[in-house]
Amino acid sequence: TPVSILTVPFDLGASQRGTKLGPEAILKAGLVNKLHSLQMKHTIHEVHFPPFIEERYSSSPRLNYLNENIRIHSKLADEVYRISKNGVFPLILGGDHSIAIGTISGLRKHYQNLGIIWMDAHSDLNTPLTTPSGNIHGMSLAVNLGMGDPKLTSIGGLKSTIDPKDVVIVGARSIDHGERELIRREGITCFTMHDIDKLGMAHVMQEAIRISSSGTDGVHLSFDIDSIDPQIAPATGTPVPGGLSYREVHLAMEMLYESSILTSAEIVENNPLFDDHERSSELLVGLIGSLLGERIL
Ligand code: ARG
Ligand code: MN
Ligand code: MN
Ligand code: MN
Repeated sequence: TPVSILTVPFDLGASQRGTKLGPEAILKAGLVNKLHSLQMKHTIHEVHFPPFIEERYSSSPRLNYLNENIRIHSKLADEVYRISKNGVFPLILGGDHSIAIGTISGLRKHYQNLGIIWMDAHSDLNTPLTTPSGNIHGMSLAVNLGMGDPKLTSIGGLKSTIDPKDVVIVGARSIDHGERELIRREGITCFTMHDIDKLGMAHVMQEAIRISSSGTDGVHLSFDIDSIDPQIAPATGTPVPGGLSYREVHLAMEMLYESSILTSAEIVENNPLFDDHERSSELLVGLIGSLLGERIL
């Protein structure tokens, strides 16, 4: 299948500026060459965020930049819906993790029962009532489960709901109190770094693949760069020590390719302002390669 790359230079879902430079950095690190070497047909298209000139940014203590978020995620949802409907694989390059609101809202118009693999140091399951920061990138998974501000949960219009039992979080090691309660209450599967240490990445990914694909008609990978250990991927505004190793994260991508369950993917939170030369962006290009079928032998 061909791949349609959507770049989303947006950073108003986070408190740190800079993820709007993320897609450009991944392209500069050699994504197009990688796709050529894999002989993947692809297109690249930017989802523009209209610049604000006279307007003041919307502020609200519990939902920072709410209006700006609504605008970009609505636009992204339309694009993702159109691409999936045409049978093309959408690969979205963020942007902070708030863009998962747009991506998954678009997917939910096309798929009746979408499964989600959410690789992240965090669970992004806050609501305006539980958020410690007001940052919408910490709420995007909750919004996709129908929880939070109606202006966000209604993006994309009529769409299917996500069954929390079809959601698997992998790599978590920083979960807020309200998020922990929500995970328990909704029965979301969450493989923390503790589980990965104990069970091994191969076993965890096998389970993640099984759970997200059983009884679903599509599986989306939402990949936050901060799932990786910040020592090898420093380009994040929200680093948490003790993350995935180089081989663990490549193995995850390789297993996802071998399973052939994925129908879409997004790579988010790459912030070149925190990178060490281009090493994080180069790592991401390698990971996209593994996800799309690059093999060692
Ligand atoms: N849990 C924290 C919050 O709600 C951090 C979220 C970080 N999210 C991310 N996508 N990096 O603000
Ligand atoms: Mn995240
Ligand atoms: Mn995160
Ligand atoms: Mn299921």
